[in-house]
Amino acid sequence: KPREARAAATPDTVKKYIALGFAVRVEQGAGTKSGIADEAYQAAGATLAASAQEAIADADIILCVHTPEAAALASAKEQALLIGMLAPLDATSDFSAVRAQKLQAFAMELLPRISRAQSMDVLSSQSNLAGLRAVIEAVVASGKAPPMMMTAAGTVPPAKALVLGAGVAGLQAIATAKRLGAVVSAFDVRAAVKEQVQSLGAKFVEVKADENLETSGGYAKEMSEEYKQRQAEALHEVIKTQDIVISTALIPGKPAPELITEAMLKDMKPGSVVVDMAASAGGNCKLTKLDEVTEVHGVKLIGYSDLPSRVAADATPLYARNLFNFVSTLMVNKEKQFAVQWDDELIKGTNIIKDGVNVHPALNS
Ligand code: NAI
Repeated sequence: KPREARAAATPDTVKKYIALGFAVRVEQGAGTKSGIADEAYQAAGATLAASAQEAIADADIILCVHTPEAAALASAKEQALLIGMLAPLDATSDFSAVRAQKLQAFAMELLPRISRAQSMDVLSSQSNLAGLRAVIEAVVASGKAPPMMMTAAGTVPPAKALVLGAGVAGLQAIATAKRLGAVVSAFDVRAAVKEQVQSLGAKFVEVKADENLETSGGYAKEMSEEYKQRQAEALHEVIKTQDIVISTALIPGKPAPELITEAMLKDMKPGSVVVDMAASAGGNCKLTKLDEVTEVHGVKLIGYSDLPSRVAADATPLYARNLFNFVSTLMVNKEKQFAVQWDDELIKGTNIIKDGVNVHPALNS
């Protein structure tokens, strides 16, 4: 994908696959942007393929970051396993080539979030780094020094940062902004998050709710119009005083909730920055432009969808390990034989296409 710097394996995971009995082939240049040279993969025991198509040809397992292009998949063997962040809930995803090749596709984003699955949880490993990077992007764009600094030339006041949505990315954004010395506030519809926000030293923005806004799976629900109104009023007051806003609010399978209105941007301080991490789900602000930085009413609006990729040197090793843990736990048996545990809930939860047929209700196309 354009702007993608991550890879699906590292020399470390290559060695581990080989120890399990696999032979590993790596697309040339796959690790370059993560700081991993082709030679490092070779030294770990992998062979190099000149193209994605050549790497994929007759592989039993295809590890990827995003779904490979149809031309690359044309060489795939029937029933090969395709494992990666396949974006099954994204309306623009096209799985026709995956089906045509009769592959078994596993979308890591759908991994059930149970404790056994934590070491395979790509959403957590990647969102965590994305949250950190969002704050760094915001600080750079703001031109401000985040901590309070008392100097002979005068005092620099601390930057004020507001984080909307305190899930994995949001909590890391709070922690990063705090570490840099900013004064941090945060808001989430899930009341359970309040304590976590406060334990990181941030102030929790309260909005009174009469309804339960959390699903049994720990995700946010869509809210009533009345609640949205109360939330908008509370946020409008807080946002006026901020230098940096990081918004991360998502509702799985739905467009991102609109939290930042144009009226709020108008009232923000000139030069302040909003990083809309929900940009690829439509944005928490309707004016956000995907993968662009725009200026609206003097506020910089950042819509990068590639934040984890901007930390590729650390995102790749975490992602590669997530994939290795998934494969080694669920696709290799105790005798080191290649055997997919089709009845396991983690396999069922992530398998979107089996023998070329859609098998997951979440699949859009
Ligand atoms: P997410 O990426 O789906 O959403 C980000 C945050 O936005 C969430 O905290 C959500 O409550 C919030 N949000 C949604 N609508 C909002 C609105 N209108 N206003 C303000 N905030 C809004 O969430 P993420 O980061 O994937 O985490 C979801 C849950 O999964 C959390 O409870 C987290 O603790 C849990 N989790 C469990 C794991 C495990 O046990 N293996 C691993 C990682 C996360």
